[in-house]
Amino acid sequence: MSKHPQGVIATYREFLPVTDKTPIVSLHEGRTPLIAARQLGKTFNPPIAVYLKCEGFNPTGSFKDRGMCLAISKALEKKARAVICASTGNTSASASAYGARAGLPVCVVIPEGEIAMGKLAQAIIHGAKVLQIKGNFDVALDMVKEIAANQSLEIVNSINPFRIEGQKTAAFEVCDVLGTMPTYHFLPVGNAGNITAYWKGYREYKDAKRISSLPKMMGFQAAGAAPIVIGRVVNNPETVASAIRIGNPASWKAAANAAAESSGTIDMVTDDEILDAYKMVAEQEGIFCEPASAASVAGLLKLARAGIFQANDAVVCTLTGHGLKDVDRAMAVASRPTTCVNAGDVAEAIRGWL
Ligand code: F0G
Repeated sequence: MSKHPQGVIATYREFLPVTDKTPIVSLHEGRTPLIAARQLGKTFNPPIAVYLKCEGFNPTGSFKDRGMCLAISKALEKKARAVICASTGNTSASASAYGARAGLPVCVVIPEGEIAMGKLAQAIIHGAKVLQIKGNFDVALDMVKEIAANQSLEIVNSINPFRIEGQKTAAFEVCDVLGTMPTYHFLPVGNAGNITAYWKGYREYKDAKRISSLPKMMGFQAAGAAPIVIGRVVNNPETVASAIRIGNPASWKAAANAAAESSGTIDMVTDDEILDAYKMVAEQEGIFCEPASAASVAGLLKLARAGIFQANDAVVCTLTGHGLKDVDRAMAVASRPTTCVNAGDVAEAIRGWL
C-alpha cells in the first residue's frame, strides 16, 4: 500500500468526525489538481494569479465525492439500511458509487429528463434505484425529506452535516498546495452546500493556524435560478446549467453568511456568460468542466470587468464537475463543428485549415 494517505478521511482525519469505529468507505477522492489558469489571469488589468480547483478529477467526476465519502462511511457506522437523495445529477452519481462500494442500497430521486445523461448513466450502472419525478430538484428534495423520515432512510444530500464536513477538505487542499490562502474563492452555487463547506474549511484552517487570514467567498448562481440574489424562492428555476437549477437552496442562510462574514458576495451570471466561460476554459486552459462549474469562472470574468482586483490578488475558481458528464451540451455549443470529408480529401481539408 502507498505510504501516502489516500482519500479525504485518511488525509484530514484530525479535522473530521470519525473514530476508530467508523468503517471508512473511500474511492481515493480528493487531492484534485489546482491548475494555474495562465491565459485567463493574463487577460486582466492588472494581471492576477488565477487557479482552477479541478474537482472533476474526483472518482465520480465531481466534488460530491468528498462529502459522500464521509456521509456513506457514517451511514455504514450507524448501520443504516439504505440511503436516499434528491439530485440534479452529481449527488446521485456519487451516492450510487459510494453506496455500491459500501454494499448499501441507494435510492435517487431526480427531475425527469432534466439531468445530464452521463450522470444518469452513473446512477444506473452502480445499481441505484432511480426514481424520476415530474417536478424539479426542490420538489424532489422535499419529497426525500418526508420519505426518509417515514421510512428511516439516511439522507445523503448536503442537509446531512457529514457531507459538508467532507467537502470542507477542498479548502484545506487549496491552502496546502498554495502554501497560503487565496484572496478570493469563486464557486457556483446551487443548493449552497459547497460554499458553506469551503467557508467552514477555511475558518477551521485559520483556527488551526495553518493560514493567517480568510479569503472572500464569491458565490455565483445562474440568473434564472438565483433565489439568494433576488431574495426569494424561485418556483420554476431555469438555466442551461442543469446542476444548479435550484430555486430554494437548503443551505441558503449558511451561504449568505459565508458571503457576508468574508466580505464576499452571492451574485449571478447569465446563461450566455456561463457558456462563454465554459468554452473559454476548454479552449484556452485545456480543461473540460460541466456548464454549472463554469459559473465560477463567469463570475470571475464579470467582476474582473468591474475592476475589483489588485495586482497581488490570488484567485481560486472551483470547477465542480467534469465536462464528460454532459457531452450533449458540449456538442451543442462547440465553436468548431466536425467536418465530414471523403478519406481522399483529408490532406486538402488540412491545407485549408491552419
Ligand atoms: N456544480 C455542480 C457540477 C453541481 O453538481 C452542483 C450541485 C453545484 C455546482 C452546486 O453546489 O449545491 O453545493 O451549491 N449539485 C447538486 C446535485 C445539487 O444534486 O448533484 P451546491
